[in-house]
This record gives sequence, structure tokens and C-alpha cells, in this order.
Amino acid sequence: MKNFEPKIVCFSCKFGWGYLADEASLSAQIKNWIPIICSGKVDTKHIVEALKHGADGVLILGCPEGDCHYQDGNFETKKRVQLLHKMLASYGIEPERVRMELSLDPEGKRIPELVKSISETVRGLGPVGQI
Ligand code: FES
Repeated sequence: MKNFEPKIVCFSCKFGWGYLADEASLSAQIKNWIPIICSGKVDTKHIVEALKHGADGVLILGCPEGDCHYQDGNFETKKRVQLLHKMLASYGIEPERVRMELSLDPEGKRIPELVKSISETVRGLGPVGQI
């Protein structure tokens, strides 16, 4: 898989990630970056649909636990991701393809790094199979 370039979809909460950054320049660095109002808005179906439609991995960036502006949206999505990991594994799909990070990065400097990190993990796994 030498030439395999993984396609990563990144959802990031606007309250915790990159709100001080120039959105246009950040999005120029990150393909398939989807800023959202809360990581709690990411549903299992969004992740599965991304994988079904060509994504090889999905990264979700939310606010730290206890800091969600919508009470516990980040925690709810974290639970969904944990369940999804089990479901993906039962279908033979590596759970490492879906990663969630709860932290703060107002300037968004870590977003490209985290996308690169999951890309490297997924590159080692190869393309996602049929879902
Ligand atoms: Fe950031 Fe909910 S407001 S994860």
C-alpha cells in the first residue's frame, strides 16, 4: 500500500477547536474538515456514512469532559464511539479508524497534527473495505 493516501474526515467542535484560527487557512491545510457546533452533533450514522462513502478514517474533536457547552454532548458522542468501535470490530473493520479526542485547541494548531496522526495509523491498515 505504498501509494495509499488515506482519506480522513475530521469533525471538530467550534467551541473548543480552532475558534481563534483563520478558518479558511485551516481548511486549506485539512481536507474534509467539518467544524460543528458540538461534538455531540456527531451521530453514529454520520461516521458510518463517511466510511461508506470513501473515508478511511474519522476523527472527532470535542471539548474536554465537563466543558461541553451543551451539557454532555461530548460525553454522549464518546459513548457512541465506544459502541461503534465494538460494532466495527464485529464487521472486521479496525476500530482505530475512528478516533475521538476531547481537549482544547483554540488556535487549531493540533488539528492538522491529529489528522496526520490518524492518517498514519490508517495508512498502516490500508483502505477500508466494503461497509
Ligand atoms: Fe464542544 Fe460540546 S460544545 S463538545
